[in-house]
Amino acid sequence: MIYKLNFREVVYALSEALDLVGIDDIYHGKRVAFMAAECAFAAGYDEEFIDELIYLGMLHDCGVSTTDMHRNLVTRLEWKDESIHCERGYMLLHKTKLFEKYADVIYYHHTHWEELKNIHIDEKTKIQANLIYLVDRVDALRAQIDLPPEQMKDEIYRIILEHEGTFFSSELIKSFLQASKKASFWFFLEDDALEEYLYEWKDMGSVNEYTYDELREIAVMFADIVDTKSPFTAQHSFGVASLSLYLGKKAGLDRRSLETLELAALLHDLGKLRIDDEVLNKPGKLNVDERLSLNRHGFDSDLILRKIKGFKKIARLASLHHETLDGEGYPYRLKSDDIPLEARIIAVSDIFQALIQNRPYREAMSAVEAFEILSGMADNGKLDKEVIGLMQENLEEVYDRAVVSA
Ligand SMILES: [Fe+2]
Ligand SMILES: [Fe+2]
Ligand SMILES: [Fe+2]
Ligand SMILES: [Fe+2]
Repeated sequence: MIYKLNFREVVYALSEALDLVGIDDIYHGKRVAFMAAECAFAAGYDEEFIDELIYLGMLHDCGVSTTDMHRNLVTRLEWKDESIHCERGYMLLHKTKLFEKYADVIYYHHTHWEELKNIHIDEKTKIQANLIYLVDRVDALRAQIDLPPEQMKDEIYRIILEHEGTFFSSELIKSFLQASKKASFWFFLEDDALEEYLYEWKDMGSVNEYTYDELREIAVMFADIVDTKSPFTAQHSFGVASLSLYLGKKAGLDRRSLETLELAALLHDLGKLRIDDEVLNKPGKLNVDERLSLNRHGFDSDLILRKIKGFKKIARLASLHHETLDGEGYPYRLKSDDIPLEARIIAVSDIFQALIQNRPYREAMSAVEAFEILSGMADNGKLDKEVIGLMQENLEEVYDRAVVSA
């Protein structure tokens, strides 16, 4: 089916999920987008070039899923393993039709200028990649330098100029120096100003038509980013989506509802990107604060997805996957009447998929063992008995669906 969407709004919302990996600092991608756009404007590039830089800035770290990698990238100027996220970002963007054109720039967004200038790729890719690299490092320096604003600015200039011609192109440094002369350049890096800047950009975007397959590819890309966060959750979102779709068909949902169900299931754990790796991979019992940070992920998924006009239902369904019919679930403690069938399906699929995977605190279960747990939960008024009934008829197929990859 066809979906009418403002694409800027879609990318903006999903980039919020990428920025969540910063945990307490969730504006890195947006700052890079803003600074790159302002430098390109100062250098006299056209609107299309600048517009692409905003997308690139917001998506540039899509290859980063773990909080550990994020920390390493923002707390030092260079890091030995930085190429991993460039290659992964390239791979994710390359297989997503609507993002394919950004893949090359992301591949080279940590390549030094002295090397990049001699590589046989088009000039535009080189400039965009090196500009993203430059402002990305400016943002990393901001996080590292603990000085009053004016001194911090001077220290950033000093370090950037030290790498002129080697890390960064002289021309691009010139544009950065010019753009950042204005006091407003630095004020715009503050959270609320930055949001305002990008809201305006987003609101100027037009509404266009997209096919379900195009949107599904983007959802698959983000599901992949979420699943990569922990070795224990590999393929989890894909398995939940595939099983949800199977159960949705069995339940007789129409095509549009099945599409909504699949997108919501692919994106249900988007909010997990904000959880510290140590909490997600902890072998022992979580303490109260850790449990709270884990439990809020359905809420964060909702917060991100509801920013896309036309995605309200997807946001709602995604956020309800830890609600239980007895009103004891989270984050909203909804009662059964307020939990739609699609959300009940995702909840069942989510638990089943998790049970048949290894977790840091237990081994993977067989289909029968997992099903028994789900039946027990249905008997206790937590899960929908009818949905569980749909599983029982064909447990082998259910298992195959839940372990399937994208
Ligand atoms: Fe990066
Ligand atoms: Fe970055
Ligand atoms: Fe979850
Ligand atoms: Fe999940």
